[in-house]
Amino acid sequence: MKLIKHMVFVDLKNGNKLMINTLNGKMSEINNEVHNVLTQWQILENISPENSSEIELFDFLMSDGYIVKNYEEEMGIKNATLNILRNAYSKIRADCEKMTFVMTYDCNFDCPYCFEAKAKNKNAVMQPEQIDAALKLTNNNLEYIGLFGGEPFLPKTRKSIEYLFSIMPDKIYDIITNGYYLEEFIDLLSTIKIEKIMVTLDGEESVHNQRRCLKNGQPTYKKILNGIEKCLKIGITMHIRMNTDKENVAASFKLQKYLFETFADYKENLQVQIAPLMQILDEEKNEIIKEIHREDMAHSKEGNKDLNKILLTSNPIINSVALDKPMLPLYAFCAAGKNELVVDPYGKIFSCLVAVGNDKLAIGQYEPTIEFKENSMYDRNIDSIPKCRECVYSLICGGGCAMRLADKEDMLKPACSSTLTQIHDLLPRIYEAMQKGGEK
Ligand SMILES: C[S@@+](CC[C@H](N)C(=O)[O-])C[C@H]1O[C@@H](n2cnc3c(N)ncnc32)[C@H](O)[C@@H]1O
Ligand code: SF4
Ligand code: SF4
Repeated sequence: MKLIKHMVFVDLKNGNKLMINTLNGKMSEINNEVHNVLTQWQILENISPENSSEIELFDFLMSDGYIVKNYEEEMGIKNATLNILRNAYSKIRADCEKMTFVMTYDCNFDCPYCFEAKAKNKNAVMQPEQIDAALKLTNNNLEYIGLFGGEPFLPKTRKSIEYLFSIMPDKIYDIITNGYYLEEFIDLLSTIKIEKIMVTLDGEESVHNQRRCLKNGQPTYKKILNGIEKCLKIGITMHIRMNTDKENVAASFKLQKYLFETFADYKENLQVQIAPLMQILDEEKNEIIKEIHREDMAHSKEGNKDLNKILLTSNPIINSVALDKPMLPLYAFCAAGKNELVVDPYGKIFSCLVAVGNDKLAIGQYEPTIEFKENSMYDRNIDSIPKCRECVYSLICGGGCAMRLADKEDMLKPACSSTLTQIHDLLPRIYEAMQKGGEK
C-alpha cells in the first residue's frame, strides 16, 4: 500500500501544515512530526507502519483516501471523477441555460478602476434583430437572461430592453447595473421575473461619490439608493456590491452595516457583499478577503457566516473550508467554460464577463454567421489543457483563470498562478480566520 500522489501540503503560520487530498477534498492540519513521516512514506511503494502512532496515522490516512494499492488504483479514482464531471459538463454546455446581453459598452459613469475602460468608445446598442440572431445560439433549455454593459440601463438602451422583455417574458433575469437609472426602468422591471439586480456602491456617500460619479463628476449615491429602495419595495432581490481595496475596506464594512439597518424590512431580499478589486495584487487581495471572512465569522451568530458569498466563487477547497461543506471538484476553472454565453452589439460571443469588449478573447460570432473559434477560452478544462491532465491540483483547479495567461493567443495553456495563490496564500489565511472564529 502506498500514499497517493494527489496530496498537497500547505504551510500555516503556526508552523503546522494543512494536508489536502485533492481527489476528494479531505483536509487536516498536521504537525511537523507527522509531515516528516509522510515525506518518508511518499517514496515507498509499500508502507509498513512501525509503531502504534504510525499505525494510527496509517489508519487515518486510509479512512481519508490517502492510501492506495498502486498508482493505477489512484488514477482509476481520478478518472471515475473525471468521467462524471466530463458528462455533466457536456450536458450543461449543450443546455446553454443562460445568455447575457452586453446592451452597450457605453456608460454614463467613469469609474477609475473599470476593467472595461478600453471598450468605452464602442457606442453601439444591441438592436432587436441582433437579440433575435443571438438567441438562435440557444435552445429550449434557456432559463436565465443576463443584462450587462458598459451600462445596460441607459435612455438609449430602453427600446431594445423593452423588446427583449416582450419576446422573453418568462425567463429569469439577472441584471448588473450601476443603478443610476433604476427608477426610470422600474416600470419595465415590474413586468419580468428577476433573480437579482446587482448594483455597486463603493462605501458611504462621500467615498462612493468620489469613485463612482457621472462622467461630468456629479454625485450618484442618493439617486442609486432611491432606486434600490424602490426595487426592494416591489419585491426585487438586490445585491449590493462594494468594490474594495485597502483605501475603502473600512468604509465598506460601515456601509454594509448601514444598509442592513436602513433596509431591515427587506432583509430577505437584500445582500450586501464586499469584493476586492480584481487588479490589486494577490497578497493585498487575499488579506482583504481574510478580513472580510473574519468579519463574517465575528457575525456568524447573527446568521452571517456566508454573508459575503460573492467571494466564494473562487476555489472548491476554499469554499468547503469557509462554508464547512464537502468539496465539489472542478472540471473547468469558472463558469467561462460552462453554461453561459455572452453576446455584444458587435456580433461577438464571449464566455466570460471580464473578457467582454476585447475581441481577441471572443469565443466566436453570432452574426453575420454563427461561428465558434477553435482553442478559445470556452474550451479550457482539465482534459483539454495537456499539462493539467496529470497535475495533482487539477480537481481543485480546473486549469486556472484564462485572464491570467500572459500569451492569450493559445488558450489551452495552464494558468497555475490563480490556483497556487489561492491554495498556498489565501487558504491558510481563511483557515486561520475560521479557527479563531472571527477574533483578530
Ligand atoms: C464592468 S461593470 C458593468 C455593469 C455596470 N456598469 C456596473 O457598474 O454594474 C460590471 C461589474 O464589475 C464591477 N467592476 C468594475 N471594475 C471592476 C474591477 N476592476 N474589479 C472588480 N470589479 C469591477 C462593477 O462594480 C460591476 O459590478
Ligand atoms: S458604471 Fe460599470 S461600466 Fe461604467 S465605468 Fe463604472 S464599472 Fe465601468
Ligand atoms: S493550471 Fe496549473 S495548477 Fe492548475 S491543474 Fe493546470 S497545471 Fe495544475
